[in-house]
Amino acid sequence: MYRPQEDSWLLAQAYGSAGPPPGAKVLDFCTGTGILAVTAARAGAESVTALDIAPRAVFTARLNAWSRRLPIRVLRGGLGVAHRLAPFDVIVSNPPYVPAPGGAYDPRWDAGPNGRSVVDPLCREIPKLLRPGGFALVVHSEFTGVDTTLEMLRAGGAKATVVARERIPFGPVMRSRTEYLKQLRNDSAADASVLTVENETEIETEEVVVIRADRPEHTG
Ligand SMILES: C[S@@+](CC[C@H](N)C(=O)[O-])C[C@H]1O[C@@H](n2cnc3c(N)ncnc32)[C@H](O)[C@@H]1O
Repeated sequence: MYRPQEDSWLLAQAYGSAGPPPGAKVLDFCTGTGILAVTAARAGAESVTALDIAPRAVFTARLNAWSRRLPIRVLRGGLGVAHRLAPFDVIVSNPPYVPAPGGAYDPRWDAGPNGRSVVDPLCREIPKLLRPGGFALVVHSEFTGVDTTLEMLRAGGAKATVVARERIPFGPVMRSRTEYLKQLRNDSAADASVLTVENETEIETEEVVVIRADRPEHTG
């Protein structure tokens, strides 16, 4: 089970700051323990749906909702289920986003070689899952590619901006991948024709970023 940590708290804070409309219909995608669903229900959402593909997460989120007497619907599933229940006024998501070089793989946080195996499909679908005037908040690491997320959301017709960021020390998973992450950073700097620092020693922190995507009321 993914225990709520800095990214979960940063997203919960961003949800509060966003001033979600009272009575909103909210989706917590990749709910884990249900922390964001609980945040939304407590903040006055009219309906909260929490989705996760892991049976253990679904069980835990249900227990957390039930023990707090919060009317949260927790379902097992991914984007297919989200589509059946759309549109939403607000979507919050802390998806798996850690770049994984191969080998041992943990679906709670690992997300393919560039960290985008869940973020990419989510970015493509967010504009379609939102009601006009609705918004989404997604958290991920700088190593996952903030510009790519912004571009994908904009390509889908959403207005997208960074609304919160926090620099945090590497946890054990990131620390174990320092060399791989350094390589990723240098590769993307090379793509962008940016000079890399030859003697960069260790990287020990990452910036965690919350991105907001707004679906305009009117298109065209
Ligand atoms: C980083 S944890 C976030 C948990 C919680 N939202 C939080 O902020 O603490 C990511 C969660 O996404 C779930 N997950 C992974 N891939 C998914 C997918 N394709 N669709 C739905 N949930 C997924 C995992 O089971 C895990 O519980």
